[in-house]
Amino acid sequence: MAVYLVCMIAALAGLLFGFDTGIISGALLFIEQGFPVTTIIKELIVSSVLLGAMVGSLSSGRLTDFYGRRKVILIISVMFTVGTLIASLAPNVETILIGRICIGVAIGIGSYTAPLYIAEVAPLKLRGGLVSLNQLAITIGIMCSYFINYIFHNTQGSWRLMFAIGIVPAIMLGIGMFFLPESPRWLVKQNRLNDAKNTLRYLRKSDQVDEELSEIVKSFHKAKLSEVLAKWIRPVLILGITLGFLQQVTGINTIIYYAPTIFQLAGFEDTSSSILATIGIGVVNVLATIFAIYYLDKIGRRVLLLTGLIGMCLSLLSLSLAFQVDIHTYYLRWVAVFSTFVYVISFAFSLGAMLWLLVSEIFPLNVRGAAMSIAVFSCWFWNFVISATFLSLLNAMGASSTFLLYAVMCILGFIYCYYKVPETNGVSLEQIESNIRRGLPVREIGQPVLVPEASLKKA
Ligand code: BGC
Repeated sequence: MAVYLVCMIAALAGLLFGFDTGIISGALLFIEQGFPVTTIIKELIVSSVLLGAMVGSLSSGRLTDFYGRRKVILIISVMFTVGTLIASLAPNVETILIGRICIGVAIGIGSYTAPLYIAEVAPLKLRGGLVSLNQLAITIGIMCSYFINYIFHNTQGSWRLMFAIGIVPAIMLGIGMFFLPESPRWLVKQNRLNDAKNTLRYLRKSDQVDEELSEIVKSFHKAKLSEVLAKWIRPVLILGITLGFLQQVTGINTIIYYAPTIFQLAGFEDTSSSILATIGIGVVNVLATIFAIYYLDKIGRRVLLLTGLIGMCLSLLSLSLAFQVDIHTYYLRWVAVFSTFVYVISFAFSLGAMLWLLVSEIFPLNVRGAAMSIAVFSCWFWNFVISATFLSLLNAMGASSTFLLYAVMCILGFIYCYYKVPETNGVSLEQIESNIRRGLPVREIGQPVLVPEASLKKA
């Protein structure tokens, strides 16, 4: 029961991630009406959150080690609240940017800390599912932001209200977290074994926790940054960094953050129908993520990942074609909408769910924190690059070539994933770690059975 409460708290952090990144798509259209903004300023308003998230994700490893997971989540709930207040009461664009950067730092720290906290308090058999639930929470947050955008779009000064709603989950996160215990694993790290034992008793609702506690103590190694860069870890670190890169350079957030703008370009001129179409995007994103969670452990990660990349590539090609031919004819406009939906569905059950799952699986235990925060940083960095350049690319090359570019990235992504991404389905994390230590190529680190030492390449 206590563990499920923890899931709900984690869901709030993921929800805030999705909400605060998604809300900008609608708010942007109204900020433009209130303040005179250039394309560069618009891109900055969208990407300021991402700048903050980059800083947040890089510092999250150290912060959580120093202050503990619980305190850090409490701190980010305050940052979410303060950032939201600043952004929604802002008298000018500069202040909006400050508020959004503050929210971004909270998102960056939260995108690492919340799943880490859950992974550390959850019983082993629930861990995989809970990691994917985090992605579900992100998509629910995005969907909620689209609904809020729609509800408030006719209200005077509505972008302020749109931002302000984010205070509700932020305060709920703070209150919820206040009552939750510190991670037993962090307590062990601090040598507070008695506290760790009491926490485990509370979480498991049982006094029989000695075995679990001694497992935690046994598996605990202090990670040094130099270890993350060790030769045997490099291949998986590169895999994590590349997956973060691919998740973003295939263009998902041009749709998530700019969907109403794209729909307007496609000829849905009034704001309300373009925001309404965006709600559809939010809903299919959630549904496809539920599909992914259901099938991840049944048909495996690779099949979903590779099929999704093909779907993303084809839908981007048809989107590009629709803009190339003449988007303003009635049918082509709907081809553009349909392509966008297929694209988001394909992303959700492939790169969307898979990035966060794989980065939590492929890194050896003693460097997991540091390696994860590097991979998460890569994701935020490329997210920033793509979101900060999308509108400029649209202006410079037109919509058709811009989407073609993302389609090419999908093809490269497919080739990379085909040769490099391991199937980790049904394999224990210990087995994966042992395969990495034995120098297996990354594509094979998910092998369930040990391969004889002699047949392995030298690490
Ligand atoms: C990505 C976000 C994206 C979201 C869309 C997440 O996995 O990291 O950048 O906005 O999926 O659902």
